[in-house]
Amino acid sequence: MEKLTGLKKLKTAVFISGTGSNFRNLIKFSKIKKTPISINLVISNVLKARGLKYADQFNIKKKIFNFSNIKDTEKKILNLLKKEKINLICLAGFMKILSKNFIKKFNGKIINIHPSLLPKYKGLNTHFKAIKNKDRFAGCTVHYVTENIDSGKIIMQKKIKVAAQDNAISLAKKILKQEHKLYPAAIMRIFN
Ligand code: GAR
Repeated sequence: MEKLTGLKKLKTAVFISGTGSNFRNLIKFSKIKKTPISINLVISNVLKARGLKYADQFNIKKKIFNFSNIKDTEKKILNLLKKEKINLICLAGFMKILSKNFIKKFNGKIINIHPSLLPKYKGLNTHFKAIKNKDRFAGCTVHYVTENIDSGKIIMQKKIKVAAQDNAISLAKKILKQEHKLYPAAIMRIFN
């Protein structure tokens, strides 16, 4: 992705499906002095996603799409992104798979955070798999989104030790804490 010049901030849309702690964290990051992004839009596939409350709290435009017809929905989203002049998409706990066509239209401008040390454990239940396999290390990854799920170029990773007493829930909590550091750091790495 090209480097930012001058004072212009990258207009960013965050896609969420749930709690939105990464969304909240990215909002915080968008308010620090040296940030390269502004958050202009949040999109969710879940009407009652808890994270949507941060859109109200911070006065960020929000749109909910039910994805019952993916082709139709993506067309609407693309129009909206164009209208809002969005040039970066951050997936943050977004649990829908975007189509090849959508990704192509935004090529190189969609990034995702994933709760594992990719390429290990693509997809769901990553913490559970790490515990089940008695992994000594786990972590999170920020990567570019390509048509193959969780397989795009890695931007940054954070590795943590799994404690003997960890279960999937405690591990998820530990990793989420690291995600909140990693996502802003990865954005800084791309744009500064
Ligand atoms: C995060 O752990 C994120 O890495 C994960 O969902 C959680 C969302 O938390 N994403 C995925 O599993 C994507 N495949 P949040 O809603 O509190 O940001």
